[in-house]
Amino acid sequence: MAVQILPLVAITPMGAADVTQVTALDAAAFSLPWPRQAFEAQLKGNPAAHFFVLRPLAEPEALWGSAGYWLVAGEAHIATLAVDPQQRNRGFGKLLLQTMLSDAQAHGGCSATLEVRASNLVAQRLYTGFGFALVGRRKNYYTDNHEDALLMTASSLDSVLPTQLEVHT
Ligand SMILES: CC(C)(COP(=O)(O)OP(=O)(O)OC[C@H]1O[C@@H](n2cnc3c(N)ncnc32)[C@H](O)[C@@H]1OP(=O)(O)O)[C@@H](O)C(=O)NCCC(=O)NCCS
Repeated sequence: MAVQILPLVAITPMGAADVTQVTALDAAAFSLPWPRQAFEAQLKGNPAAHFFVLRPLAEPEALWGSAGYWLVAGEAHIATLAVDPQQRNRGFGKLLLQTMLSDAQAHGGCSATLEVRASNLVAQRLYTGFGFALVGRRKNYYTDNHEDALLMTASSLDSVLPTQLEVHT
């Protein structure tokens, strides 16, 4: 599935040619980034993986966002979601999340789940806006600072997908 939001950005499935930039974005976005081999493994060897990149149409060599989920037994597990620090708060995180949830639904997914750092209030606000609710806490989940992970679930994709999103130019 590929989503094109005119006239600003295109969201397309991640491919091998994207991995170098995706790895760099991941390193800029997370304190425990994935190594490039982790992304390569998703693309080459994981049939449950659905990963995407977001690029500006006017500058298609630039990478503004990446995201991925695993679909297992009807549940989409959000694996990663990152927007270029220079392009945040413009609606692209919402576009990527909506793309993943719509794609999961198109592939037969019914629900979605994710882990988010307890301190990551921006991401929690994004997820809450899509109907994700707090269902649990994994103590000392993150190995860098022993922070807890919050477990959030959207029990029905039917009710969480908004019909229209705005992108701020
Ligand atoms: C989380 C992240 C993907 C959001 O991307 P984004 O493009 O900035 O998000 P959007 O512009 O689509 O905003 C989506 C929602 O996030 C929240 N949000 C975004 N920026 C915010 C800010 N500066 N302060 C508070 N809430 C904010 C809001 O709820 C916003 O919805 P609203 O505008 O309707 O209120 C981005 O901040 C990021 O890459 N963070 C680092 C990686 C990360 O934490 N990923 C999530 C891991 S679980």
